[in-house]
Order: sequence, then C-alpha cells, then structure tokens
Amino acid sequence: MLIKFDFNNMMSRTLGDKGFADSALVGFAADAAEAFRSFGKKRGTGMTAWAELPYNQAEVVRDIKATAEEARKKFESFVVLGIGGSALGPIAVFTALCHFRYNDLPAEKRGGPRFYVEDNVDPERMLALLDVVDPKTTLFNVVTKSGATSETMSQYLIIADILKKALGDEWKEHIVATTSETKGNLIKIAKKEGFKTFYIPDGVGGRFSELCPVGLLPAAMLGIDIEGLLRGAAEMDKACSSEDMFKNPALMAAALQFLAMQNGKNISVMMPYADSLKFMADWYCQLWGESLGKAVDLDGKTVNVGQTPVKALGVTDQHSQVQLYTEGPFDKVITIIGVEKFRGDVVIAGGAEEFPDVSFLSGHTMGELINTERRATEYALTKSGHMNNTLILPEVNAETVGQLLMFFQLETAYCGEMLNIDTFNQPGVEEGKNATYALFERKGYEAKRAELEAAPAPEAKYII
Ligand code: PA5
Repeated sequence: MLIKFDFNNMMSRTLGDKGFADSALVGFAADAAEAFRSFGKKRGTGMTAWAELPYNQAEVVRDIKATAEEARKKFESFVVLGIGGSALGPIAVFTALCHFRYNDLPAEKRGGPRFYVEDNVDPERMLALLDVVDPKTTLFNVVTKSGATSETMSQYLIIADILKKALGDEWKEHIVATTSETKGNLIKIAKKEGFKTFYIPDGVGGRFSELCPVGLLPAAMLGIDIEGLLRGAAEMDKACSSEDMFKNPALMAAALQFLAMQNGKNISVMMPYADSLKFMADWYCQLWGESLGKAVDLDGKTVNVGQTPVKALGVTDQHSQVQLYTEGPFDKVITIIGVEKFRGDVVIAGGAEEFPDVSFLSGHTMGELINTERRATEYALTKSGHMNNTLILPEVNAETVGQLLMFFQLETAYCGEMLNIDTFNQPGVEEGKNATYALFERKGYEAKRAELEAAPAPEAKYII
C-alpha cells in the first residue's frame, strides 16, 4: 500500500507551453542523480541522522511503548509543551490518525488521555488550558531540542511551579522531558529533578524530528501504531532509493519544484483533500520554508532562495483560494493530497426529488463528492495552465502517514542539494531567538542588545 505521485499536470502534455517538456526532465536527470548522490554521502551524518530513524530505534520504541502504556492508564490529560518542529509533527499525526472529536469522546472510547499541544506563549491560551486540565491528573511533555527555546522554557517554568504547589514532591512524575542528551538546559534540569527523559538524537533537527521521540511519544500516548509509522517511513525510503528520478518519487518531486522555482514559481501550495491531513500541510510549511529559505549557498554566495509554502484545504479553500490559484499569477505549484478510500463514508440522502439541481447529489457518498471535487479542481487548475501535482494515499493509516512524512523529508533534502544550500540550519530563526534573549536581558547577549538598541527607533510619522 504505497503512496503514488502523479505529476501529469506539471507537463506540457496537459499544460501546453506552461508545462515541462519530457526533454526538460530528461535533461535534468543527471543533476537530480548528482543531488541524490550528494545527499547519500551525507546521509546518517551531521544533521541528516533523521534518515536512519526508521531503522535504529528498536530500544527507544520499547521504552516509549512501556512508558505510554503506563501513563495512558494513569493520566486524564497529556500536554505537549513545544514549538516549531517540537509541535507541528505531533499535531499533524494526531489529526491524521485519531478520532476527529478525540478529546470530546468519553474516556472508555478514547482509551487514553485527552491531548493538547501548546505551541505559543499567548497568555490567554495558557489560562484556557489551565481551565480545562487538572495538573494533578495531567502529564506534561516538555519538548525542546536546544533545551533553551524561550517559549517552551517559559511554559515549563509556569507548569513546574503549578505542579509543585499542587503535588509537592510528586510533581516530578508529571513531567517527561524530550531533549538533546548533550546540549541545552532542559537536560540539566531533567537530570537534577530526575524527570523521565527521552533523547532527540544529535543530527535530528526540529523539523525532521517527528519520527524520533518528539513525535513517537505523543503518538504512543494516543494509541497510534508507532511501529507502523516507522515501517511506512522505511517503505518510502526504499521506494526512493534510486538515483534515477523516474524511479524515485521524492527525487522527481524535488526536481519538478526546483525547475519550477527556476521558472519563477516561488510559491508552493500544499492542499490536502482530507481534513485528517489538514495539519500535515502546516508541518510541511515549516519543513519546506525553514529548510529551503536561505540567504547564502554552500559556497558563501548570496542567493536568497526558497519557495513560500502556503497551506490550503480541499474542498474548503475551493471557496476561498482556488479563484486565485486558477486565474492569478503563474507563480505557484499546487500539490494536492488525495485519499482513495476514506475510513468511513456517508451516503447523501434523497428527499428533494422534485428539485433535480439538488437531487443529483442523492445516492452518492461524501467520499465520492470530495474526490470528484478534487478531480474537478485539478482539471480547472490544469485548464488554466497552472502547475499542479497529486499525491494519492490509498487510505490514511499509520503506514501511509509514515510514508508521507518520509516523502516530504526526502524531497526537501534533495531539493536543498539542488539549490546547493544548507538545508538543515535555520539562522533566520536563531536571529529571532537571540534577539528575544537580548531584549529580556539574558546574560551573554549584551552585544546583541547593543545591536538592537543601535537599530533605528520607530518614527512617529510612520505610525498613523
Ligand atoms: O526546525 C527547527 O529546528 C526549529 O523550527 C525548531 O523546531 C524550533 O525553533 C524549536 O526549537 P527547539 O526544539 O530547540 O525548542
């Protein structure tokens, strides 16, 4: 049961002169093979350790499953405190694989705790969380690779204080840390307090961390088949093991996006036609945007590359964004994610036979309707000359979700090689983090504070 990548609507066959000729792809095949080999040389080293996660976690998976089995019985709520790569993957996988109204189900139907991911420092949101969870029956998973991110560490401090007041010495049993074994402050705090701790391996960056304990612990807490996720990732890795882009779907996808970028397509729209995959688009946006948006290339040349990722949802955004996608500028590639078989379906009832303009819907299912509308949108985009491609999941399950995660990670890594950039750093994000430390007068950031103070102050004439 493997995901399929259909790129017909990127080609001149359907798009005329707005699409790629076969010869353009054939002409790029050697460059794509070079990108594949270049990534292959790095694979498993430096910041590419994520590529080996499907194969080297037997022991940690056992520990996660044992921890989750016990905690699922003991706690009524499970809260992830994390941001960016420490939050978007858990949200995407939860939405893909759990009941749509999971938190509203009675405990016996859920089979595990209610689930919340707190990925912001909006005080109103924190107060609202504290209105609905009882710290005495809640397990908090503090997730930060760097162990230093202000948002996550401030949440930790707030929650630790509440837990200490509510539970005395027992408070430590209500925190699990997921962090680097070697870097940052959370590991030091975790060791001092004796928290149960899972490690984010060195070489696994935030946005590539869903298949390590960052994502696997929350998934296991929700009763998701984490071995299925890893199996799916391994299947996709195998399907992408050829340097021939015509036999490697992630390499082909990367090549098409790279060539499209060369043609001024600076926007990548991710549009799942399934609510279960809605937040997969959020996760993709971070992966694609943070990995490929870079000022300099590996030779130190200023390049300012990247494609702006945009999330959309089918069919909802047909009534919002699709007008722009079909008639607006030719600056986008639209990637649609379709699902062949939904996990349940609903027949559209009869009852309006005297109104043929309504009754034509009766007898069909909602699954048929959403997939028909997907095909109709693909047609409309193609007819108007807008590049689009489709990833088809046979159905949404742990294995296909694992495949999808791996597909996008590999596509991103290959595309980074084609762009000759460091796919795995995020200097732009670090700049904002450091500026926050400086403004909060953190020790060691005096020079950054001076730099900020030297910047032009806002002028009243520009504020109206
Ligand atoms: O991809 C990344 O590395 C970042 O987006 C991080 O996930 C994000 O900044 C959070 O960092 P950390 O996990 O160190 O708290």
